[in-house]
Amino acid sequence: MIGNLKLKSNLFLSPLAGYTNLPFRLTLREVGGLDLATTDLVNARSLIEKNPKAFKLIETCPADRPLAVQLFGSVPEEMRDAAIYLESVGIASVDITMGCPVKKVCRVGGGSAMMMELEKTQALVKGMVDAVNIPITAKMRLGWDDENITAPDLARALEGVGVAAIFVHGRTREQGFSGSVNLAGIRAVVQAVRSIPIIGNGDVTTPEAARMMIDETGCAGVSIGRGAFYNPWIFLHTRHYLETGELLPDPSFEERVRVMCRHLDLMVEVFGETHGCRMFRKVAPWYSKRFGPANEFNKSVVQLTGKAEFHEILENYIRWREQFLDESGGLRPNYRPPPLVSSFMQRESIPVPKGPVEVW
Ligand SMILES: Cc1cc2nc3c(=O)[nH]c(=O)nc-3n(C[C@H](O)[C@H](O)[C@H](O)COP(=O)(O)O)c2cc1C
Repeated sequence: MIGNLKLKSNLFLSPLAGYTNLPFRLTLREVGGLDLATTDLVNARSLIEKNPKAFKLIETCPADRPLAVQLFGSVPEEMRDAAIYLESVGIASVDITMGCPVKKVCRVGGGSAMMMELEKTQALVKGMVDAVNIPITAKMRLGWDDENITAPDLARALEGVGVAAIFVHGRTREQGFSGSVNLAGIRAVVQAVRSIPIIGNGDVTTPEAARMMIDETGCAGVSIGRGAFYNPWIFLHTRHYLETGELLPDPSFEERVRVMCRHLDLMVEVFGETHGCRMFRKVAPWYSKRFGPANEFNKSVVQLTGKAEFHEILENYIRWREQFLDESGGLRPNYRPPPLVSSFMQRESIPVPKGPVEVW
């Protein structure tokens, strides 16, 4: 339960600005295991001013339920009015980004700067909670830096004003995306609140990593961002693993290709062929990371302009890839991509996709 919202899965999609759009969410939902998904962050003021870009960010459809919209902003009235509007159009919950250290967000007092100003934040959030019946949630990092681990205090303060759940990325702002996710830090947040669910986040790329995060922190669920790029099956496989203890086999190459094509179809449906294909240039290489050798594919797909061209690129690639296969059609062992390992399970980092990542 997140407030009054009963969910079928304790696995969540983390907001990834530029990526967690309607086509990606629908692709993940079709694969399964995911219930509450979120939009990219949306500027509250742009939304109430009915800016078309903000409206595109909250575009949804009946298959894309339940949906959370993530808001940023520091003007209490704007945040409140944006939440009221989102409730009126059937959005299931509203998330507030507090862990977003993008300069333009911090400058206006939103994002990580919020964590330094507890009382002001509490008042802003209370204004939203009081104005709507849908749950208001918050997403934060552990704090500004190691000396300022503010998430436990902020979480307790927000619970006091009615926040329904908190998503915690187990890193500080100073850390960026480097170093390991700090499970003890997430546990401190779990211990700081009385009863609301804390959702752990950061570097979960496998079902075992999700299990470990839950076991070691006591968090009620796990939110996954980049792991869903690599592996749209992560929600389905993790649900299965959490319920049965059984690890499902990796999807076949054919299944990965099928889902990738479906993702492109949805991109074209939502954004039109030209824009959808252009956007897919940065999406396809994430799928191909698990294809084995894929230079041929990547080289062509970064210039993609149309759907027919995509299928041509794909056919050529499938033929080229045959040289790496054994008699049964599987990748020969030395061409298989290495298994994914989370930072907190082994000291290895996962690549960060293109975007304003130096500031998130
Ligand atoms: C490209 C990119 C965009 C992101 N956009 C947002 C965002 O809009 N709002 C937010 O709260 N966090 C954002 N994040 C942070 C993620 O939601 C998440 O907390 C972080 O990536 C760690 O989780 P992961 O290891 O599962 O990806 C972004 C991260 C990346 C890499």
